[in-house]
Amino acid sequence: MTGRAETIESRGPRVTGHRYDVPVSNPPAPPTDRGAADANPLGGVRSTYRGPRAEISRDPALSWWRRILPIIASHRATFVASIVLSFASLIFQTLVPNLLNGAITNALAHHTTTLHRVVIEIIALGVLAGVSGILSRHYLYRTAYEVEADLRSLIYEHLTWLSFSFYDRVQSGQLISRANSDIRSVQMYSTFAPLIVVQACIGVLAFGFMLKIDPLLACIAMVVMPILYVVGIKMRRVLFPISWITQARLADVATIVDENVNGVRVVKAFAQEEAEINRLADAAERLAWAYVKDARIRGQWSPWVQNLPQLGLALVLAFGGYMVIHGTLGVGAILAFNAYLLMLQAPFMMLGQLVMMGQRAKASAERIFEILDEHPEVVERPGAYDLVEVGGALDFDHVRFGYGAGLEVLSDFDLHLEAGETVALVGRTGAGKSTVARLVTRFYDVDGGAVRIDAHDVRDVTLDSLRQNVGVVLDEPFLFSVSVHENIAYGLPHASRDAVEAAARAAAAHDFITALPDGYDTVVGERGYTLSGGQRQRIAIARTLLVNPPILILDDATSAIDVHVESAIHRALGALMASRTTIIIAHRISTIALARRVIVLDEGRVVADGTHQELLENSPLYAEILAQTMAQEG
Ligand SMILES: Nc1ncnc2c1ncn2[C@@H]1O[C@H](COP(=O)(O)OP(=O)(O)O)[C@@H](O)[C@H]1O
Ligand SMILES: [Mg+2]
Repeated sequence: MTGRAETIESRGPRVTGHRYDVPVSNPPAPPTDRGAADANPLGGVRSTYRGPRAEISRDPALSWWRRILPIIASHRATFVASIVLSFASLIFQTLVPNLLNGAITNALAHHTTTLHRVVIEIIALGVLAGVSGILSRHYLYRTAYEVEADLRSLIYEHLTWLSFSFYDRVQSGQLISRANSDIRSVQMYSTFAPLIVVQACIGVLAFGFMLKIDPLLACIAMVVMPILYVVGIKMRRVLFPISWITQARLADVATIVDENVNGVRVVKAFAQEEAEINRLADAAERLAWAYVKDARIRGQWSPWVQNLPQLGLALVLAFGGYMVIHGTLGVGAILAFNAYLLMLQAPFMMLGQLVMMGQRAKASAERIFEILDEHPEVVERPGAYDLVEVGGALDFDHVRFGYGAGLEVLSDFDLHLEAGETVALVGRTGAGKSTVARLVTRFYDVDGGAVRIDAHDVRDVTLDSLRQNVGVVLDEPFLFSVSVHENIAYGLPHASRDAVEAAARAAAAHDFITALPDGYDTVVGERGYTLSGGQRQRIAIARTLLVNPPILILDDATSAIDVHVESAIHRALGALMASRTTIIIAHRISTIALARRVIVLDEGRVVADGTHQELLENSPLYAEILAQTMAQEG
């Protein structure tokens, strides 16, 4: 029985496969216990991620909105509906003042038509305008949020596809928060800009009606519009930098708060609470300055923006009133002009805003493309095949490797492991031991030479099958905020409780797990029950053992575990999986002693290879490393 009712398969189909012209791998043979759990006894929810309908254009030479266009085009039904409806709604609205003019002049002043007909017409138009307005907004928001969801999926999907080297270069936390605000600004612009353009077109129509009623008065009424436009632009020009500064300072404050919460133990241990409070106060003050500045600018400009239209109305009243008194204009015309002016005001102001939004969206889109145009360095070769029936022979054939443009970490690493062999890999800190582990699973690709499993170059096989056959337990085990059961079953989500328990026993974790408040259903990880370093390591080992890979790499995986528990783990390992090829990266002599063969790594190559006893006699470096560890552990 699984601890949870729902299984969220958010990894979903490998959309990336076909979208980026990387061959889609055949799914590896289903692991053995998947069938049993497929019945899903609790009948829970199963959500499957489907991914966006379209992709951005891959051509970096296109302008930013042309690249975004395919995504908006994939929602064209709702998008076009919203634009058409908003057009209709605005036309209905523009018809009303004209009708009003007619009503006042003909029905009230000259009694040539009946009033109630006009009233009914106005009500009908109002209802039509309202209904189409509501529908247009509904479709517009739907499009906007669907576009936003698509962009977000594209980015996250792409991030999961990118190689480790990308994450070495960027600050992932910043990346995510930046992506979020960038997505929002692109979404806003690409859906609302067309709407504003529609409104501006309607402005032309309204102006047309004004011209029809009285050309001279129309021109007089429009006098303030260019001023309004200029004022709108000027205000935004001064507000715009401040809004950027505010954003940046807001992020600064958030970072400090975040660090203080996550690093609270360090802060308290060094009694730096006061310094941190000062740091926060500084940042908060800088933020407050930006906000006050923003408020002051708004305060200076908004009276203009709000009252300029009134000036237009006053002009209309003065000139129009004069014309009415002299009988050249109907009273209704003044009312209609009034309504049209109010209608024109919004698009004129928003046109200015559109330019700013456009600049911002462009910058945002470019940052999004920066991520989406990033290509993973580790990809499957066309024609990559699944690694099956692995014997377990592991070959490092004159491997050369360095991270990015940095120094070479492995310069001529040459090592051959028989199937089923267990070796201990020893070396100083920073010698490149973990790097060796990362090359086997293709977290990085070698710069020269090759890594082979049973004579298959790891670059020739599919990534999924490779990683299913090579289990790596890292020295810093990351646990998810889910139950112990789910953490152990991470690589095999349908594993039965029995299988999970067996893996936990082999990792000497069963006893402490059953002592937890809810046993295997205890939620652990960042937002759960706090486990000790050694307990976390044991869960991480169980997680890898459950997948039962024919090649196992333990990278300092038992460093935080008591020596006697560690030997229990290794006894269980030895008994359970005698035929497994194992690399143990370790410092402790007790751990190293588990391997018959010991390899010493130094300056990027193998400098000693033999039994523990042989190395003690022949390798001064080996003796030195052991002496150091013993001194450290007391
Ligand atoms: N992601 C990385 N980016 C750049 N350099 C790295 C990265 N990981 C490790 N290194 C460097 O590579 C060298 C070997 O690291 P590593 O394999 O972790 O050593 P070990 O596990 O033997 O302590 C070190 O000098 C380290 O600074
Ligand atoms: Mg290491």
